[in-house]
Amino acid sequence: MIQSNTITKELDVYAIRQQFPALNRQVKGQPLVYFDNAATTQKPQVVIDALVDYYTNYNANVHRGIHTLAEEATAAFEASRDAARQFINASSREEIIFTRGTTEGINLVAYTWGRKNIKAGDEIIITEMEHHSNIVPWQILCEEKGATLKMIPQQDGTLLLDEYKKLLSSKTKLVSVVHVSNALGTVNPVEEIIKLAHQAGAKVLIDGAQSTVHLDIDVQALDCDFFAFSSHKVYGPTGIGVLYGKKQLLEAMPPFQGGGEMIKEVTLEKTTYADLPYKFEAGTPNIGDAVVLKAALDYVSKIGKAKIRNHENELLAYATEQLVQLPGLRVIGNAANKVSVVSFVIDKVHPQDIGILLDNRGIAVRTGHHCAQPLMACYGIPGTIRASFAMYNTKEEIDSLITGLQKALKMLL
Ligand code: ALA
Repeated sequence: MIQSNTITKELDVYAIRQQFPALNRQVKGQPLVYFDNAATTQKPQVVIDALVDYYTNYNANVHRGIHTLAEEATAAFEASRDAARQFINASSREEIIFTRGTTEGINLVAYTWGRKNIKAGDEIIITEMEHHSNIVPWQILCEEKGATLKMIPQQDGTLLLDEYKKLLSSKTKLVSVVHVSNALGTVNPVEEIIKLAHQAGAKVLIDGAQSTVHLDIDVQALDCDFFAFSSHKVYGPTGIGVLYGKKQLLEAMPPFQGGGEMIKEVTLEKTTYADLPYKFEAGTPNIGDAVVLKAALDYVSKIGKAKIRNHENELLAYATEQLVQLPGLRVIGNAANKVSVVSFVIDKVHPQDIGILLDNRGIAVRTGHHCAQPLMACYGIPGTIRASFAMYNTKEEIDSLITGLQKALKMLL
């Protein structure tokens, strides 16, 4: 019998669970155990209510109308920008660009800053543990410009910083690094990475897709040049995200897309562009989801990231301890500093088979390459089984995962 002590002293997980309606549902006749939080988090009632409230009461286009609804929508949209600024401690609201998500944020930098600044012979450094969204935009750019993409190697989930130092040179123009690996949970030492990059004269982009929900983010203290994150991994809606950029860099960058909202004046001969942040927000933005982002960020801040982190770290330790006792199971990525993500493989068993058998018991995990094929190649595996924990998960749910795995292995082996 597995011993489980459900709750941390500081976080009332059961009360929190009550605020997430999706957690009450059954899957295949069993209570849902949702361990796919690195893919997307479930949404609390306050977030769902905020979206309904927007569309029920003040749906209007922003920055255009002088009527009451337009003014209310604009005020809520801009309040959300202020909330995002505060959440990552940017120094000004002009540095907060709304995007569709982290992927669009990275692509924006590649298409505008990259196209303007990267020349033939330049080098861009990423890491072996990047998500495809922080590989492909740079491959496209490097191919177009005749630049070279280099990768910081990793070993057992830890970046090899000595190898990074060897890669840096006067040719390095950009270092673009994932803060927290979606596939392994590793927290990368971005402070050190940024400092070294700046000493070499390079700019730094941090992919914060997985870190923003777990860690305190202070872009000024980090001194990164760009930072991108997605709302839906921070208990907010899908389809909205934030790109932070240092003001002087954003000001010097050409626009990403052309259209309404991003202009000052258009004549048939010439267009002048709007000031920041609107220069990068062409067209009608995703107003409803942007407005609701504030509800999600406020929700997390009110509970407190430190409390959430303590609970999640407890879950990670508990899960890892149980998992490694299963025969043939190997944890992939054993960095000293991890968030609540555990990736593993099991001898002679395909991850997808495990995923299907767990789903039959109502347990949601992600299986496969996690959009990190170069990382999987480092390990010589096609993919892993990944359980990723959020503030609302419990040790009892981890017990269910372990039982589910034991039953699956009995069936498969
Ligand atoms: N990037 C998301 C994940 O890791 C989708 O699952």
